[in-house]
Amino acid sequence: MTDRKTVLISGGNRGIGAAAGKAFMEAGWNVSLGMRSPALPDWADPDTVQVAAYDATDPASPDAWAATALQKFGRIDAIVANAGIMVRKSAVEATDEEFASLIEVNVNGPRRLVKACWEQLAASGEGRVVIVASLSGKRVKSAISGAYSVSKFAALGLSHAIRHAGFDKGIRATAICPGFVATDMGLPLASGTPTDALTQPEDIASSILHVVNLPNRASVSEFWVNCLLDDSY
Ligand SMILES: NC(=O)c1ccc[n+]([C@@H]2O[C@H](COP(=O)([O-])OP(=O)(O)OC[C@H]3O[C@@H](n4cnc5c(N)ncnc54)[C@H](OP(=O)(O)O)[C@@H]3O)[C@@H](O)[C@H]2O)c1
Repeated sequence: MTDRKTVLISGGNRGIGAAAGKAFMEAGWNVSLGMRSPALPDWADPDTVQVAAYDATDPASPDAWAATALQKFGRIDAIVANAGIMVRKSAVEATDEEFASLIEVNVNGPRRLVKACWEQLAASGEGRVVIVASLSGKRVKSAISGAYSVSKFAALGLSHAIRHAGFDKGIRATAICPGFVATDMGLPLASGTPTDALTQPEDIASSILHVVNLPNRASVSEFWVNCLLDDSY
């Protein structure tokens, strides 16, 4: 087995996922980026960064991605389940289809990805799972974020459930909970705040890298990051 650890990052083509991919590469990891339309980013070293097909709505996708990553790198040490969608509707306004797609992409997708990599994560005795949840998984900020919030409460619960399922195997799971981040998703939601005052994707990337690098004896179950003063968060 190679000494270089391998991380799988979903939604690695833009936003937080791309920033995380770059941060892990620069920190000396092998990186497998899961994307709906795979294309090697211009910052990526093809020796240590791989792109693979991944669609969170396709149940067969995680197994195929894990096999592709194993073929190139020989091991899987960490998962960053980052791919996610937002529907700007209240829990009452969202259609059944919209609500189902929020749960499918934001909750079922991460669950299936972790499941596909479980054996590998356990094999090292120090596997890591990061679920990119949200502060919307901690509190409902507004009516219009309601449907999304329900999915992120579930994503947060998933992260805690994985933490329990994997603890004895040395797997540590963390829910990263950002407020507004300057990405395609976050910018339209935070129009009242100057872009450079928003949390940047690179800030979330370094938070992810930080928790992943902590030893088994320092498990962080939730990591909250906010650019605004927001009650307790
Ligand atoms: N930005 C914020 O303010 C904020 C705050 C808290 C939490 N978050 C969470 O952070 C994560 C990343 O969001 P972001 O801000 O980086 O947003 P983004 O720039 O909109 O990126 C979303 C990523 O998810 C991917 N994705 C969406 N549906 C997918 C599917 N069915 N299968 C595979 N990939 C899919 C997108 O791929 P395509 O390019 O193919 O669409 C894209 O790579 C999300 O889980 C989001 O909920 C964001």
